[in-house]
Amino acid sequence: MADILLVAASGLARETLASVRDAGTDRVVGILDDDPALAGTTVSGVPVLGPAALAAQRSERLLLCPGQGAARIALAARLADLGVGAERYAVHVHPSVVIGAGSAVGAGSILLAGCVLTCDVTVGEHVVLMPRTVLTHDDELADGVTCAAGVTLAGRVRVGERAYLGMQTSVRQDVRVGADATLGMGAVVLRDVPPGRTWVGAPAAELRRDRAGGPALPHPRPVGVLPLLTSHGRIRVP
Ligand SMILES: CC(C)(COP(=O)(O)OP(=O)(O)OC[C@H]1O[C@@H](n2cnc3c(N)ncnc32)[C@H](O)[C@@H]1OP(=O)(O)O)[C@@H](O)C(=O)NCCC(=O)NCCS
Repeated sequence: MADILLVAASGLARETLASVRDAGTDRVVGILDDDPALAGTTVSGVPVLGPAALAAQRSERLLLCPGQGAARIALAARLADLGVGAERYAVHVHPSVVIGAGSAVGAGSILLAGCVLTCDVTVGEHVVLMPRTVLTHDDELADGVTCAAGVTLAGRVRVGERAYLGMQTSVRQDVRVGADATLGMGAVVLRDVPPGRTWVGAPAAELRRDRAGGPALPHPRPVGVLPLLTSHGRIRVP
């Protein structure tokens, strides 16, 4: 049984803590967080010991828990500057996860309950797979990717560094999702997604915004929109 520190007192940290407790294989002994107001408090019964930099002075294995992959990768780089190497990171895989032959999971990655990696799947470092993510043959997820609950990737999909795949996203085989891209909840992705863009919908298309970062510009509506049931119980066709 290894002792583990979670870094960042986030929702993901609480989910990871619950998963580690459920697995019973390792033990979370503390949480590190840069918010000075949290020092000395507890999260789900685990003490917050101090800032992230404290990791360099301790010996426990680490799991980085910011919900966004970009933040996890930036934190890993910061800790590397303080001498925290890849060997310090744990890998957490809930016992219900299925990892098929030929697959690999990188340091610092967190695989929550019910995930399936069918075969020959490559998962990078500091990747988070939320419950029931399904990755199929020859998928490749680069460092810092996040798959929210229920993401499903067909075969040979490649996902670039730090990309965020929202809940229930589906991606067709052979598609590439660029680094730092975001896929909205429920996206059905049929074509390559360029780096840094946000795509939503079924079939997925780019969510465009004006330059001031204001409201989204019109984006394609699916053909054959479903009628909506209004609060008056009437059917409205948008
Ligand atoms: C896509 C997403 C990142 C956009 O978030 P945002 O930048 O805050 O965008 P907004 O909520 O302002 O919505 C902008 C527009 O996109 C639409 N939109 C937002 N999310 C959408 C989605 N998943 N699918 C389709 N359209 C979506 C909104 O309806 C809105 O359209 P409108 O301008 O025509 O009214 C976000 O909605 C999303 O899906 N995030 C993933 C959530 C998730 O999986 N969380 C898991 C946590 S564990």
